[in-house]
Amino acid sequence: MTGLHGRTMAEATPGTAPAWRTDFPALHQEVNNHPLVYLDSAASSQQPVSVIDAVAAYQRQDHANVHRGVHTLSHRATEAYEGARDKVVSFINATGRSEIVFTRGTTESINLVAQSYCRPALSSGDRIVITHLEHHSNIVPWQILCEQTGAELVVASIDSAGQVDLDEVKGLLDGDVCMLAIAHVSNALGTVLPVKSLIQHAHSLDIPVLLDGAQAVPHMPVDVQDLDCDFYAFSGHKMFGPTGIGILFGKERLLEDMPPYQGGGDMILEVHFDGTTYNELPYKFEAGTPNISGAVGLGAAIDYLQVAGMTRVAEHEADLLAYMTARLSDIEGIRLIGTATNKASVQSFMLGDIHPHDVGTILDHQGVAIRTGHHCAMPVMDYFGIPGTARASLALYNTESDIDALVTALVAARKIFA
Ligand code: ALA
Repeated sequence: MTGLHGRTMAEATPGTAPAWRTDFPALHQEVNNHPLVYLDSAASSQQPVSVIDAVAAYQRQDHANVHRGVHTLSHRATEAYEGARDKVVSFINATGRSEIVFTRGTTESINLVAQSYCRPALSSGDRIVITHLEHHSNIVPWQILCEQTGAELVVASIDSAGQVDLDEVKGLLDGDVCMLAIAHVSNALGTVLPVKSLIQHAHSLDIPVLLDGAQAVPHMPVDVQDLDCDFYAFSGHKMFGPTGIGILFGKERLLEDMPPYQGGGDMILEVHFDGTTYNELPYKFEAGTPNISGAVGLGAAIDYLQVAGMTRVAEHEADLLAYMTARLSDIEGIRLIGTATNKASVQSFMLGDIHPHDVGTILDHQGVAIRTGHHCAMPVMDYFGIPGTARASLALYNTESDIDALVTALVAARKIFA
C-alpha cells in the first residue's frame, strides 16, 4: 500500500511521524490536484481512525442519555462518558474525576472560571493579569468580567521575539490581583511561557493561576500537579478529538467553593420552588445533556496520544520546528513573527509585502493548508503592526517532506507576486 507521499506503509515504523500519519485518513487525499499538506493543526487537528471509529461505534450501539436511565444503553453511555473523564484524569495527572469538568472547549472553560470563580470575589480596584500574547478566549472573558465588576485588566508586555518578561509579570502581581491568566503556549507565536516559575511566584502571594493549555496539551507532556496550576483549560479538537468538547481542570477545593456556572438538568440534587441543592463535583458544572459522543472521541484521542507518548511527540515536533524555522529563514523576503527561545509547534511569518490571505490562497492551490489572519490574537498583530500573519502549525503527523512542500509553495508564491 502506498500513501500519497510515495511512502509505503511498511516503511512506517511505530512511534514515528510516518507511522502516525497513516492513522489519519484525511491526510491521504489530494487537494487541488496536489497531495494535501496539512499545516493548520493549531486551528484544528485531524482525527485518527481510532477516534472516528470510537465515535461511530458509540453512535451505532451505545447512545442514550447519561446519568439518568436504568436501561442498558444509558449505563453504557454513562460508562463511556465517565470512562473518558478518567482518561483525562490520567492524561494530565489530576487527582480525580471531581477535578475534570467537560465543557464545549477552552473558551467555555475560561468563561466558567471568570464568572464562577472570579466574579463573586471581585470588586472595583481588583485586578486580573494577562499577557499581550493571549488568544481572544483569554482576553474577552476577563474584559466582560471587568465591565461587570469594575475590576481592572492588566496586560504584561511582550518583546519583539514574542516573549514575556518574567520579572515584569512578577512585578505586576500583588495583593490586589485576583487571577493570573496566561497561555501555556501562544497560538499565534508558538512561545512557551515560563509558567512554572510564574505559578510559584503567584502562589507565594496567594494569587491563583489559570493556564490556557489549548496549544500545549497536543504537543508536550502536561502534569497539572507538577505545574501546580489552579485551573487548566483545553480543547478536544486541537488534540485529535472532536469539536465541541473541552476540559476545565480545577483544583477540587476551588471548584467545591464555586457556584454553578449554568443551571439546568444534571447539575442538581433536588429542585423545589423553595430552593435547589446542587450536585457534587464535577456535575455541578455540567448543566444539561452533555456532548457524550464528543467525550468518547476525546477519550479515544487521549488513548492515541498515550500510546504515541507525549515525550516522543514533543521531541519529534521540536526537531520539525527547528527544520521548519531554518528552511523558512532561507526564503528571500520572509519575516518570521515569533522567534522566542522556547517555542512549540507553530511558526508565523510574512512573505514580503504579500497579504497573508493571498499567501494562504496561493498555497491552497498547491495543496498546502495553513492559516492566515489574526489567529484570534489581534493584540499580537497590533504589537507587530501587521494585519495578520501566515501561520504554519505542526502536529505529530507532520514530516520534513511537509515542510519541503510548504517552502516550494512559498517560493512559487513569491514568483507569482514578483
Ligand atoms: N485558536 C485557533 C487558532 O489558533 C482557532 O487557529
